[in-house]
Amino acid sequence: MKWNPTKALRDWLEARFELEPVVRLLRENLTKPVPAHVNWLFTLGSVLAALLAVQLFTGVLLMVHYKPSGQEAFQSVQHITYDVPLGWLIRSAHNWGSHLIVVLALLHLARVLVYGGYKKPRELTWGVGVALLAIILGFGFTGYLLPWDQVAYWGTVVATEAPASIPVVGPLTREFMIGGTEVADPTLGRFYVVHVILLPVALIALVGLHLLLIRYHGTSPLSGTDQPEPGADEIRRQGGKPFLPHHALRDSAAIYVAIGALMSLALLLPPHLGDMADPLITPPGIKPEWYFLPAYQLLKYVPEVVGVQVPPLVLVLLLLLPILFDRSSHRHPRRRLRVLVVATAAAAVICFLGLLGHLSDTQQALLGKTYDFDVLGRPHAVKEGVAEGGSSGRPQAAQEQGMGEGGAP
Ligand code: HEM
Repeated sequence: MKWNPTKALRDWLEARFELEPVVRLLRENLTKPVPAHVNWLFTLGSVLAALLAVQLFTGVLLMVHYKPSGQEAFQSVQHITYDVPLGWLIRSAHNWGSHLIVVLALLHLARVLVYGGYKKPRELTWGVGVALLAIILGFGFTGYLLPWDQVAYWGTVVATEAPASIPVVGPLTREFMIGGTEVADPTLGRFYVVHVILLPVALIALVGLHLLLIRYHGTSPLSGTDQPEPGADEIRRQGGKPFLPHHALRDSAAIYVAIGALMSLALLLPPHLGDMADPLITPPGIKPEWYFLPAYQLLKYVPEVVGVQVPPLVLVLLLLLPILFDRSSHRHPRRRLRVLVVATAAAAVICFLGLLGHLSDTQQALLGKTYDFDVLGRPHAVKEGVAEGGSSGRPQAAQEQGMGEGGAP
């Protein structure tokens, strides 16, 4: 008889452990039916989990060569980029992964918001999700400094100055965050530890809890919270199909496309590395990553002490959404138009602030004219025609210096 390695392994394990209950639990879970309204939008969470796994993998590879000190960090990133075989690709995949993860987290959040997936009994799943969003943004913030080039250094100087404006606790918070009064070697050490130890541990623990809660409650139905949640038989009767293979195949296809997109971006558009950080030379046109641009721009219109508290407030408001702001029993989007209109308006304001932040302090060509956008994002026509390089959307001064944005591992 032909040797079957799977059966041999199973027999070996069965002779030592009681496997039957584990296998039954797995089978029951994987074949649980998903509601009939589940579509491709419900693959975003799995895609996010897959991209996070790739991100942890590329991050560990980068750690092999990265050196977290002011004297060596920049050279070690140069070494990864130019000397280590495929180092540039790993760095590029890690950089693009960070952007895609933020995009997917926001899209996944929007999907849950539209379908009312945060409502009873899934408030805790939602709360853990909001914490995961904060962790993802924390990764972006701390990772930005690690290449230790001019953009990374001065971007962090600007970003860590704002919290100091809060009376009493502000200066202390800043000092604790950067390990002194200025961004320097101790800041890099702190950001590195947070980026490679604290945040990954918190991320893995909370993603585990998030997934456990999702398996426990199942996907939310479209019926109201005042009705009992449909059981497996009811979901099947309403046209729901088993998770395996139906939705699992959809998840796999979406993950395949996302990893393809990540690798294409990483191959075609590797990130730039500027000049080494110099605390004595402030380069012009410093801006944070795109997802911090709304907060950055807001600080220009309102007093710093107010503006700096808005982003955490937005996270708290999101957290409180199911328990304070949307307590109706309806889940169906058509019966929650008011909530969706308010959420869309808030998203539009955030995007508009981000756009103003992107345009501010740049020169752009629009409709055959060239405009100077001032720091508040207001356009001022400068001359007829299109100025050379004027439509790239990068800070004008930064272009002159040949610097790029981003570059965070
Ligand atoms: C690390 C980031 C995250 C991962 C890996 C993740 C993963 C997932 C997965 C796999 C699902 C089930 C499939 C789906 O609905 O797409 C899901 C559902 C859910 N997620 Fe996330 N998620 C993350 C972040 C978030 C965020 C930022 C929020 C909201 C603030 C959130 C809230 C929820 C809720 C409430 C559900 C249940 C929805 C329902 O049953 O309809 N998640 N998540």
